[in-house]
Amino acid sequence: MCGIVGYLGSGNSVNVVLEGLSRLEYRGYDSAGISVQDAKGNLVIYKKEGQLLNLRKVLEKENPLSSIAIGHTRWATHGAVNDTNSHPHGNSEIAIVHNGIIENSGVLKKELLSEGRVFHSETDSEVFLVLVTKEYERLKDFKKAVVEAFKQLRGNSAFVVMRKGGNEIISLRRSAPMVCGLNVESHELFVSSDPYALIGFADKLFFPENEVVCHLHDGKIDFYELDGSVSNRVVQKEQQMSLDVADKGGFEHFMLKEIHEQPKLIRALGNYYITGEGQSTLKKVENIKKNRMHITGCGTAYHAGLVIKNYLETINRHPVNIELASEFRYKNPILHKDDLAVFITQSGETADTLASLELCQELGMATLGIVNVEGSSIYRKAKENLLIKAGQEIGVASTKAFTLQALTGYFFSKALGKALDDKSIYQEVNLLADRIENLLHDTDKIKAIAEKIYQHKGFIFTGRGVYYPIALEGALKLKEIAYVHAEGYAAGELKHGPIALIDDNMVNIAIVGPELHEKTFSNVEEVKARRGIIVSLGSEKDEALKKISDHFIGLNFDGLNHLSPLYVNVANQLLSYYMAKFKGTDIDKPRNLAKSVTVE
Ligand code: M6R
Repeated sequence: MCGIVGYLGSGNSVNVVLEGLSRLEYRGYDSAGISVQDAKGNLVIYKKEGQLLNLRKVLEKENPLSSIAIGHTRWATHGAVNDTNSHPHGNSEIAIVHNGIIENSGVLKKELLSEGRVFHSETDSEVFLVLVTKEYERLKDFKKAVVEAFKQLRGNSAFVVMRKGGNEIISLRRSAPMVCGLNVESHELFVSSDPYALIGFADKLFFPENEVVCHLHDGKIDFYELDGSVSNRVVQKEQQMSLDVADKGGFEHFMLKEIHEQPKLIRALGNYYITGEGQSTLKKVENIKKNRMHITGCGTAYHAGLVIKNYLETINRHPVNIELASEFRYKNPILHKDDLAVFITQSGETADTLASLELCQELGMATLGIVNVEGSSIYRKAKENLLIKAGQEIGVASTKAFTLQALTGYFFSKALGKALDDKSIYQEVNLLADRIENLLHDTDKIKAIAEKIYQHKGFIFTGRGVYYPIALEGALKLKEIAYVHAEGYAAGELKHGPIALIDDNMVNIAIVGPELHEKTFSNVEEVKARRGIIVSLGSEKDEALKKISDHFIGLNFDGLNHLSPLYVNVANQLLSYYMAKFKGTDIDKPRNLAKSVTVE
């Protein structure tokens, strides 16, 4: 996690770094900071707990001017969220920013303390600062000092370092994202954890491999190996991304705007894969060897993977293994080089998903990304990609990305079954968009239910079969933005334990769709018998369900077939959104979270 931006050039570094950081707040918003040089070359650090806005206020007052700066937006891993633990960390000689985790920081800190070195923060990152300072004192060579300090660290990290009086920046990484940038005309130099921060600034991008030292100085960037020899392990690219201008379009929150964008995006994705440019990628993917398929992802992307697994198994009768990426990467999974590995991700930067991809690549397997962000790490590394074309998703709670990930998986499954040109798919996709549109036209009912239930003690989302992943996703969304305890359960599992939680303060959000209707209905009766509060999502024609429920969300499932889970999910998105709104939480930037989880 954490966003990093560094700048060296003729412009005002503070403006560039602040603009870059504002684009990287999705990586964390616990605090933000910047280090600059004053007119005498001395290092000055400004840092503030909370969102970037707080740092901006400080800088507006102080108005520093400098041609060199490094900045950071933090998602705390080690040490509380406060000003002291914010980055940059620095002293009179050196300033550093860090993204990642130093796994042996405890041991190193002990050693450094025993040598009389002083620490001010509780962070692992400060260990690197103290090590660089120590090595700089010993070697009197900035670049060598950074390298020697880096060599002592374990874990995946990226660092950017500047020094007092020096017109140079050094950056290096181990399995954490980093890109350097050059503006060819002005010779301005940049470094960041994401090329997105450099759009409009740098036209040439350099992606260093692991443990390549990047030396930004005198209008150019030199790359070295850790032994000091020149490195060519750098991928050079032109900047092709364009800046999406994010505005709420009249909605109160990005999340609500993104929920409302879904019908339009669903239709557009249908056009793209059924008759448009996406067809050719699907054709390529169809022909990849896939003895077995493995799907991985995290959070909401994993839930979309569960929906896709259902498609591949029911439509194609293809065996699919699905794992959370954080489990997959460490479990020594049973893989074969003729298997296909599928990675689902909105950002394309999630550390565990990326590491899982690297693991599969090492084994020579074919890899497929189902990705939103074109140009992201996973997009660049996967052999093939199916884009979900969701546009920028700003709300930390993923909504439209889930729908479009699952829908892309549906097109993939249909393409494998040679049924993508079937006219009925068009109809199904348009019907899904229409039904979601209807739901969004009239949200008052869901809002009213949210108001009645948001203060209850706990929420159990239940569903069977294709609706089970939707129960999991519903619960994740609710806890994420409304800060209430919620669990997703397969409805049939209730009586194996969680039913003990049911009383008149516990809400069961029961998805009772057409599939396995009678079985799921019985589960609702069991909860009702124990005085649980029932909020059901079922067919609008289902009078029995309506009668037994305390609150009923009537839906029209007719003709939606395999796509009905995506429809129900939108009702859950709205329910969570309104409950969070009644609770008054920070919906677009919920506490403790980051949009993109780039540490494991
Ligand atoms: O960018 P990714 O799709 O790889 O992110 C995966 C999860 O971190 C993400 O879906 C997370 O669970 C969302 N905040 C859920 O709304």
